[in-house]
Amino acid sequence: MAFLNFGSLNIDMVYSVEHSVRPGETLASSKLEYFCGGKGLNQSIALSKAGARVFHAGCVGEDGTRLLDMLQKSNVDTSLIRVSSAPSGHAIIQVDKNGQNSILIFGGANLENSSDYVNSVLSTFNSGDKLFLQNEINCIPEIINAAHSKGISIIFNPSPFAADILSFPLDKIDWFVVNETEAYALTGKQETTEILDSFRSNFPKASVLLTLGEKGSYCMADGKIYRQNIFKVPVVDTTAAGDTFLGFFFALYDSFGIESALKYASAASAIAVSRSGASASVPTLKEVDDFLASLPTDKAEKH
Ligand code: RIB
Repeated sequence: MAFLNFGSLNIDMVYSVEHSVRPGETLASSKLEYFCGGKGLNQSIALSKAGARVFHAGCVGEDGTRLLDMLQKSNVDTSLIRVSSAPSGHAIIQVDKNGQNSILIFGGANLENSSDYVNSVLSTFNSGDKLFLQNEINCIPEIINAAHSKGISIIFNPSPFAADILSFPLDKIDWFVVNETEAYALTGKQETTEILDSFRSNFPKASVLLTLGEKGSYCMADGKIYRQNIFKVPVVDTTAAGDTFLGFFFALYDSFGIESALKYASAASAIAVSRSGASASVPTLKEVDDFLASLPTDKAEKH
């Protein structure tokens, strides 16, 4: 089974600020750092660091060498990535004194995918393989349709949410990975049970991974609902916490089972929020093992 992540690659410019800049305000930042990011790249790195063999597809500009280097350093296969004439995507990220972020993205090369490219990427994947998608690239409906027709299992993280997602062929999605905001946008519900009920009736064949920040996470799969608390840590930067969660969960759930995969995903994202940056904050599987082993035994059983 191969994992294909058709997703964004961004250069993240991360500004440390007292608070996120308000409309009409000019604000000085105390620090500027550059990181490799993009929900796609972050998720590929998390999948790989958790032990999965991952192929990343998508486009960078000629300024994207550091993005390719970062993926290669993390053992992600970059042979399918195209270099386009548009500049690489970037994100302007403000991180406030509580570690909360505000993100402005510019799509750039992430929006340069074409039908020919989609077909050529998918030609090398088959039934039983897994495809990961987020909402920072173009051609998503085409990718979903092409993958579904080949029997590839589709994991969709509709983030950042935009209204056109509602017109995507969502009945072909096998897994939705959503936070509260995305869940509300897709279901119109805010209460956990109602969100899960709505997914069950509107997308009966899909499983759901629902992350609720401080309130933990839920997984609805195989006719069951599983729940996992968060691991509390001092928050430095929440960027890529959700991407880390997703990567660890899907890299591990086939071999560990859903309960352990949820626990590892939650621990990995706790480590990620205790560090700066996007992909730079993703831990290795060994670091997650060590973190869980360091907890009192009632909080963590080692797998
Ligand atoms: O999920 C975090 C990511 O969102 C950042 O790395 C940034 O690039 C934006 O895409």
